[in-house]
Amino acid sequence: MEDLSPRPGDLEPIETVSVDELRAVQTERLRWSVRHAYDHVPHYRRSLDAAEVHPDDITSLEDLARLPFTSKADLRDNYPFGMFAVPREEVVRVHASSGTTGKATVVGYTRDDIDMWSTVMARSIRAAGGRAGHLAHIAYGYGLFTGGLGAHYGAEKLGCTVVPVSGGMTERQVQLITDFRPDLIMVTPSYMLAIVDELERQGIDPRTTSLKVGIFGAEPWTNRMRHEMEQRLDMHAVDIYGLSEVIGPGVASECVETKDGLHVWEDHFYPEVVDPETGEVLPDGEEGELVFTSLTKQAMPVLRYRTRDLTRLLPGTARTMRRIEKITGRTDDMIILRGVNLFPTQIEELILRTPALSPHFQCVLERSGSLDALTVVVERREDATDDTAQEAGAELRRLVKSSIGVTVAVDVVAPAGVERSMGKMKRIVDNRPAR
Ligand code: DLL
Repeated sequence: MEDLSPRPGDLEPIETVSVDELRAVQTERLRWSVRHAYDHVPHYRRSLDAAEVHPDDITSLEDLARLPFTSKADLRDNYPFGMFAVPREEVVRVHASSGTTGKATVVGYTRDDIDMWSTVMARSIRAAGGRAGHLAHIAYGYGLFTGGLGAHYGAEKLGCTVVPVSGGMTERQVQLITDFRPDLIMVTPSYMLAIVDELERQGIDPRTTSLKVGIFGAEPWTNRMRHEMEQRLDMHAVDIYGLSEVIGPGVASECVETKDGLHVWEDHFYPEVVDPETGEVLPDGEEGELVFTSLTKQAMPVLRYRTRDLTRLLPGTARTMRRIEKITGRTDDMIILRGVNLFPTQIEELILRTPALSPHFQCVLERSGSLDALTVVVERREDATDDTAQEAGAELRRLVKSSIGVTVAVDVVAPAGVERSMGKMKRIVDNRPAR
C-alpha cells in the first residue's frame, strides 16, 4: 500500500497547535456558542433557565458540565425548524436523519456552516490520505442523508475530482471504478463489501483496482473488518465518524499514518464522554456515551447533544486533537440477551476470525415463550463447502459462548443469502413481539 502520510505544510495550523492553544480557542468559542443558542433558540433559553445557568456563568470548559443535555427528543419536539438560531431565510441547506421511529430530525446550515463543514471534511479526507488531484468516487447516499453531499463538498474543497455516484446500482459502481480509476472511495463499509463481491463476480481481482484508500463510516465496523478490506482490496481502510445533528460526516476522522482511532475536530465540536445512566462526566480513557457541543455552528447550535454512541476519549497522536476509539455500538443497538450485553460489532469480530464465514451477517432476535433468542444469520464464503461452513457455524457458536458468555443459534446460509445494504446495514432484525 502506498505511503500517504502528510508532507510538511499539508496540514492546517490548528491541527498541530499546542493543547493549551487549542483549549484557549475552544473556551472562547464555547462562550460564543452558548450565548448564541440562548439568545436565539427558545428551547435553549427555557432549558438553561430551568437549570439556573446563564451564558455569563460559562467561563471555562469545565463549566460545560453545568449545562443541561440535549437529546434527539428535543429535536423532534421542535420539528421541523424550531431549533434554528437564525431566520429560516439564512439557512441555505437542510438535511434530515430518517430515524427508525417517529418524525425525522431536521438540521440546517448557513453558508458559513457549509463552509466549515467542507473544511472539516476536506481535513478528514486529507487525514485519510486524500490529496488535491485525486479522483474521489463517492458512494454514500446523496439526498437528505448527510453522507453524500458532506463528502462531496469536502472532496471538492480539497481539490479532488469528484464522481458523485451515490449508493446503489452496484454493477455501475464497478464499471465506474474500472473505467475512471479513482484513488479514493467513500462509502459505508457494508456497501463496500457488496461492491467487492460484485467485482469478484465480474472476474475482477479487487486487489488490482486503482483504489488507494477507502474512507468508511456511517455505521460501526471493527479493526478486523479493516484488516479484511485492506487484504481484499490492497488499499488503506480508514474510519470516518459523524452525525447529522452535529454536522454530518467529518466530526472525527482517522489518520492514515497511525490508524489508531479517530481524531475529533474539536476546534469545532467539543467532545465529552458521560456515564449513559447517570450523565456524570467521565475522565478521558473511560468508556461511556459521547456528547458533543458545537463551538462554531450558526444555524443549529447544539449544546451537550447525547449521541448514544459508546466510546472513550484518548489523547492526540498524529494530531493535537483528542481521539475517540472506534465506536463499539450505540446504547440503542445493544442487545441484552438473558442479562448479557452484546453488540453486533462483537459478533463481527468473531465471524471474521472464522475463515469459512463471510462478513455478511445479521442478528435476528426472536422470542419463544418469555425467553429472547438470538440467531446469527451469516453467509459462508464463496470458496467454503457446505461441510466446512457447518463446522464454521458450530465454531462461531462456541466462540460467542466463550468470549461473550451467551448461547446463540448460528444459521450459515449460502452466498447472497443475507440482504445487501446500499448504505447503512441493518444489523439487528428484531422480530420479538412488543411486550
Ligand atoms: O451517518 C454521517 C456520516 C456519513 C458519517 C458518512 C460518516 C460517513 P447519521 O445518519 O445522522 O449521520 O447517523 C449518525 O451513525 O450517531 C453513529 O451511531 C453512526 N456512525 C456514523 N459514523 C460512524 C462510524 C451519518 N465511523 C450515527 N462508526 C452516529 C460507528 C458511526 N458508527
